Amino acid sequence: MIQVLNLNKTYKSTQALKDVNLQVDKGELFAFLGPNGAGKTTTIRILTGLTKLDSGTVRLNGFDVNTPGIDSRRQCGLVPQSINLDRELSVVENLNIHGRLFRMNKEQRMSRIEELLDYVEMGDRKATLVKNLSGGMKRRLMIARALLHSPAILFLDEPTVGLDAGMRRKIWALIKKIQQNGTTIFLTTHYIEEAEFLAGRVAFIDKGAIVVVDTPESLMKQQGTWALDRLKEDDMETLYFNDRKEANDYIAAQKDSFTLRRVNLEDSFLALTGKKVQ
Ligand SMILES: Nc1ncnc2c1ncn2[C@@H]1O[C@H](COP(=O)(O)OP(=O)(O)OP(=O)(O)O)[C@@H](O)[C@H]1O
Ligand SMILES: [Mg+2]
Repeated sequence: MIQVLNLNKTYKSTQALKDVNLQVDKGELFAFLGPNGAGKTTTIRILTGLTKLDSGTVRLNGFDVNTPGIDSRRQCGLVPQSINLDRELSVVENLNIHGRLFRMNKEQRMSRIEELLDYVEMGDRKATLVKNLSGGMKRRLMIARALLHSPAILFLDEPTVGLDAGMRRKIWALIKKIQQNGTTIFLTTHYIEEAEFLAGRVAFIDKGAIVVVDTPESLMKQQGTWALDRLKEDDMETLYFNDRKEANDYIAAQKDSFTLRRVNLEDSFLALTGKKVQ
């Protein structure tokens, strides 16, 4: 569904993407996990046709993003990292503008808007001005807008950034529902739990290069199952164990105090890149 071959992008002196290769199949929920400045937004912008690539090939559902025309754009919907709704217009008016851009006629727009606002639980907010919506509602409205023209692929650039824990979970549930309804999803995040909870497969991206692509389970398993954290001088030292009893026996034999926890994707990211995501 998404095919990226030898993708490169440089901004003036910054090499934002270095030889990125990836393949996402129909129906997958694929996550790009990486720290600030890793190249996540650049990737999404190139895949959705907003930024031009320097070299390489990107195909969405078989359509090359470099070929002029709107074929590849029709394949995808985008929820950008920063909120770009029209604040002075109402919920319905924002959706209507987008529908017109995709040349949906009035009838198609009205029925699809109705359906999607119910879907994101905002059916009672049709006439509300965007400037009066909460942060979580704005995100959900952007998701509805991205789905308006029924794209095969939904791109979400940091879909829950800045939201509280409750709203984050609500958005996660919505994203899972969209995948279950058959849409392929590509999302970026720098939240460990988000990638762990949502992604079928995850790519670690660091300094513009993909470090590894695998399932969260398999990446975490490579570290062991249990982690022991100990504060050492100013830094945290972590030891890994496969067996909980082994970890507890180790603690019992030491003078220091430890925190025992399950291994997470941050441990895998640290092991592979030498740095933390968050
Ligand atoms: N328009 C631009 N002009 C110059 N440099 C840019 C531009 N956009 C991004 N960059 C640089 O390219 C690199 C990758 O940026 P990008 O926004 O893709 O990272 P990101 O992973 O999305 O980061 P964040 O988590 O902060 O959103 C960074 O070093 C950034 O400063
Ligand atoms: Mg970004």
